[in-house]
Amino acid sequence: MANKNQTLGEFIIENQAAFKYTTGELSRLINSIRLAAKVVNHEVNKAGLVDIIGAVGGRNVQGEDQQKLDVYANDTFIQTLIKRNIVCGLASEEEDDFIIINSQDELHQNKYVVLIDPLDGSSNIDVNVSVGTIFSIFRRVTPVGTPVTIEDFLQPGNQQVAAGYVVYGTSTMLVYTTGHGVNGFTLNPAIGSYYLSHPDMQFPENGKIYSVNEGNYLDFPLGIKKYIKYCQEEEGDRPYTSRYIGSLVSDFHRNMIKGGVYLYPKGSRNPNGKLRLLYECNPMAFLAEQANGKASDGYQRIMDIQPTELHQRVPFVCGSKNMVDKVEEFMQTYGE
Ligand code: AHG
Ligand code: MN
Ligand code: MN
Repeated sequence: MANKNQTLGEFIIENQAAFKYTTGELSRLINSIRLAAKVVNHEVNKAGLVDIIGAVGGRNVQGEDQQKLDVYANDTFIQTLIKRNIVCGLASEEEDDFIIINSQDELHQNKYVVLIDPLDGSSNIDVNVSVGTIFSIFRRVTPVGTPVTIEDFLQPGNQQVAAGYVVYGTSTMLVYTTGHGVNGFTLNPAIGSYYLSHPDMQFPENGKIYSVNEGNYLDFPLGIKKYIKYCQEEEGDRPYTSRYIGSLVSDFHRNMIKGGVYLYPKGSRNPNGKLRLLYECNPMAFLAEQANGKASDGYQRIMDIQPTELHQRVPFVCGSKNMVDKVEEFMQTYGE
């Protein structure tokens, strides 16, 4: 029975035995993420006060402007995980290549690799709208004690051992899964502890919210255009409500609580969609499925896609199960 007074630290210890491989390593890893998230949270909160907002001048590997907080969040997560000597490799949306940890020194025995989107929704920083961090954790497939290789990162999402996000919103929450449901913890900033506030989170099977950047409408596949019109029709429980924040983490979080579907389809400007399979879609898909929802590229399960490159993009449809089924039905019928 969920105990709402429980802190994240207590929850991790209590549930450690349920992990597939119980050496405590995964628990320590999640502990490090929660620590880095607190540091980033502190920085996000004061973003309006100090000269930290605005573009830093650089562009990331995908040619997007890097915001200062993107860089800060990236460094914080990477440094925290490296210094605590808790993973054997890291990949980040903000890094061109994956990072091998500790390969020169005495070879460590760490088994896990982490993939992160350190700051999701970065275009929202300057306007005081919620942003987030997304993480995905795999066991390495190459032998322990050797430097990690690209193979350790290009695993399909169905191999994830844990995934989660932090939403820096009206309150800061850490939501994660280790394959035994989804639990949400709210940070009490006065004390610096996260408390179990949302035990066993579940997407309602049906929802009434659709979240998509409709500015790209003319560019969408026919199946998506028809689905959007379907959402707007007056019929049964429709029209649905349109809500789009532009931070995947925040849009997902709202839809999981209220019921809804998030779509980032492909188009001529984004021939494979915009979202990244490894840093955004896989972890959100794992959370969605663990919360009784569904994630698809319009035709197939996101977590069954075999990645071929680190920064691969993929069309993304995610949310309440019946709504995602409906989108797939439209794609089947009307296609591109
Ligand atoms: P990031 O800030 O990590 O680059 O991610 C932004 C993503 C996602 O969070 C959001 O839903 C989407 O891009 C918004 O894209 P548009 O502005 O094209 O709608
Ligand atoms: Mn992102
Ligand atoms: Mn990002």
